[in-house]
Order: sequence, then structure tokens, then C-alpha cells
Amino acid sequence: MFQTAVTKMLNIKLPIIGAPMFLVSYPELVAAVSEAGGLGTFPTMNYRSIPELKDALFKIKSKTQKPIGVNIVLYKEHNPNWSEQLKVCLDNKVNCIITSMGIPRSVIKEAKSAGAKVFCDVIDIKYAKLTAKAGADALIAVSAGAGGHAGKISPFSLIPYLKDEINIPVIAAGSISSGRQMAAAMALGAEAVYIGTRFIASCESGASEEYKQAIIKAMPEDIIYSKEISGVYANWLKESFDKYKNIETTDLKKWKDIWSAGHGVGQIKNILSVKKIMDDIIQEYKDVTQKMKME
Ligand SMILES: Cc1cc2nc3c(=O)[nH]c(=O)nc-3n(C[C@H](O)[C@H](O)[C@H](O)COP(=O)(O)O)c2cc1C
Repeated sequence: MFQTAVTKMLNIKLPIIGAPMFLVSYPELVAAVSEAGGLGTFPTMNYRSIPELKDALFKIKSKTQKPIGVNIVLYKEHNPNWSEQLKVCLDNKVNCIITSMGIPRSVIKEAKSAGAKVFCDVIDIKYAKLTAKAGADALIAVSAGAGGHAGKISPFSLIPYLKDEINIPVIAAGSISSGRQMAAAMALGAEAVYIGTRFIASCESGASEEYKQAIIKAMPEDIIYSKEISGVYANWLKESFDKYKNIETTDLKKWKDIWSAGHGVGQIKNILSVKKIMDDIIQEYKDVTQKMKME
């Protein structure tokens, strides 16, 4: 048991959220994170139709009864079906909606009346203020070095900055792969951590074996920050970025082969079960915070 404002809000044991990852977070991974005491999540964009989304929620619910979250991109051009997806999630009692892009005003209203929480991805103060004003329950501070679409501000600045400027809980995202990094994020004022890249190299992730091995092999120097692939700045594994950056295709094949990861690859040495990853993170968190106590 490790209680913070975020664990209380979600009724979970540990302040660890398995971050939603396109083509990586499928029911096995989501359920494993929730079963281990965190919040498992996935992006609706993993599914091309509403029946597929319903089926995924059904599969997750058959593996765990614990709280889960779903990420919805609120940008019509990328995700034209978002309001239908929201309805399906709320009808299926999803506990937390995680929004990216767009102002989530109507989402927050609908989610709250269905009893769900709404967390919003932010990379700067302007958007953080807008989402907080719209009624977000917590902000996800997506810092420089995060896997996927990442911000430009160092977590050492972004987390305390958002915390001081905006009076709602902040969740730290970016390069958290170990208990040491989690302790640092909590010391900066975060109420939970959002972990993506570490879970790519887990037994339960939907990533291919080659992708998992590339994560283990990669060092922070192998991560490229570029908007060349998707039009929005994101972090990519150099090896796959060099291979695919010039290929003009938006199809799923390209997305399956282009691998995203954050600077947190530096701490990932092996493929482990989600439970073992989370147990190790919590053990290291306890050891390091104990060691830092003043005599
Ligand atoms: C392969 C991959 C796919 C991702 N897909 C999404 C997505 O579909 N939606 C989203 O909001 N964030 C996505 N992200 C970002 C994560 O949710 C999260 O912000 C990030 O992984 C945290 O940083 P870390 O990878 O350094 O732990 C993705 C990240 C990765 C690595």
C-alpha cells in the first residue's frame, strides 16, 4: 500500500500507471499492470472499429476486475471516432479517461457524470492551464525524454513548475524505468508515475521480440527526437528511425516497424514480467528513499 492523491482517486495500491502505448498496450499488458496494483491503460487507437474496442474491453475485464484507464486522442483528424469511443468506455465502466490533444471540456463533463476520472497529457503550462480550467482531475507532465510524443522541458523543471502553478495532482511521465527515477519524480512533487518504455520490454507487452531486444540494447544516445515521422515531436529508436524516416506511407505496416522509446532505455537490461518489474521498482524506491533519510 502506497497512498497518494492519485491512488486514492483511482482506488489502486501503487502510484504507478502503465502508460498507454500504440501497438504495444494490449489486454495482457493492461490487465497485468492493474493486477500488480497499478493502473493498466491502452489507447483506443489500437483498434480500428468500435466492435474491436468493445472486444478489447471485454478481454481485459475477463483478466482483471481492478481499475483500468483508456487513452483517447481528441483530435478529429487523427481519431474521428473519439466521441463514440468515449461512450463505449464509459458504458463499460472504464475508471479513468486519459486525453491527449484537444481541450477535454465535454469529455470531462461526460466522464464525471459516469463516475470516471479524467487525466490530461500536457507538455507546457499553457495547455496545462486550459485543461485544469476545463476540470481535469490530474495532469500528466510529459517531459523531455519520454517515449512517444514527448515535451521539451526537463522533468526537473516541469513537475515542480506545474505543481506550483496549478493546484491539481501531477503525474510524472518520461524516463521512469527504475525505483530511483520514481523516487526522484515523487520528490519533485509527482503523485504518481507514468511508465511506458520500461513495459515495452515486458513479457506481457504486444511488442515484437526484435523490438524488445532493441530496447534492451539501446542507450539514451540512441534516441532521436524528431517530428519527421508523425508531424509531432516524438522520440524514436535511431535504428528504426533511420530505416523508415523516408518511407512515404501512413499504413499500419510502417507503424509496426518504426519503434518509439524514451531516454529511460538506459536502465532496461532484460525482459521481465510486469509483476517483477513493478516489484523491483517499488523495492528500489524503498531502498533509495530509506538511504536518503537524514540521520
Ligand atoms: C511505443 C509507444 C507508443 C505510445 N503510444 C501512445 C499513445 O497511443 N497515446 C498516448 O497518449 N501516449 C503514447 N505514448 C506515450 C506514453 O503514454 C508515455 O507518455 C510515455 O511512454 C512515458 O515515457 P517513457 O516511455 O519514458 O516511460 C507512447 C509511447 C511509446 C513508447
